[in-house]
Amino acid sequence: MKEKVLVAYGSTNGSTAEIADYVGEVLAEEGLAVDVRSASDVTDLASYGAVVLGGGLYGGRWHRDTRRFARRHRNALAERPVWLFSSGPLDPSASERDIPPAPGVQRVMNRIGPRGHLTFGGRLEGDVKGRIARMIVNSGKGGDYRDFEQIGTWATMVARDLAVPEG
Ligand SMILES: Cc1cc2nc3c(=O)[nH]c(=O)nc-3n(C[C@H](O)[C@H](O)[C@H](O)COP(=O)(O)O)c2cc1C
Repeated sequence: MKEKVLVAYGSTNGSTAEIADYVGEVLAEEGLAVDVRSASDVTDLASYGAVVLGGGLYGGRWHRDTRRFARRHRNALAERPVWLFSSGPLDPSASERDIPPAPGVQRVMNRIGPRGHLTFGGRLEGDVKGRIARMIVNSGKGGDYRDFEQIGTWATMVARDLAVPEG
């Protein structure tokens, strides 16, 4: 693919942003031109040949920036190769089994027809934003469940898929 790949994310506490950065690094290592940007900063997809879109999960939904991005750019997304990811579970489940997309994410998938979706483990620890988030951390239920080996394997697969000329 000659055009750039956009990796866009919605993240409140930074962990999904770090996943997006890592996906971007792997795509670049595989020879693709990549921009990694907050979903709220992207106004136009015209210069991008493909999109990886991810969001942290909050209350069974994607982060608001990811939902808005998917809504605003739905036509452009439907015309491009798209890969989606979610990050959330604060336990090892996402490393152990395939966690299906949340219902709202599934509706986005039905609309834009992405090439795939994967749920990664999340992270909630340290100085987090929000009362519920602080309660989770203070009760000892937080932690970092992101599996960078799993993320790297997925990103390599995405990169190789995008490197194949279409048609
Ligand atoms: C208020 C709140 C609601 C959450 N809801 C979900 C959820 O519905 N499903 C899930 O898997 N994880 C949920 N999580 C965990 C977050 O998705 C996880 O911490 C994620 O890594 C946060 O991403 P971010 O750091 O990019 O904001 C929730 C966390 C908080 C604080």
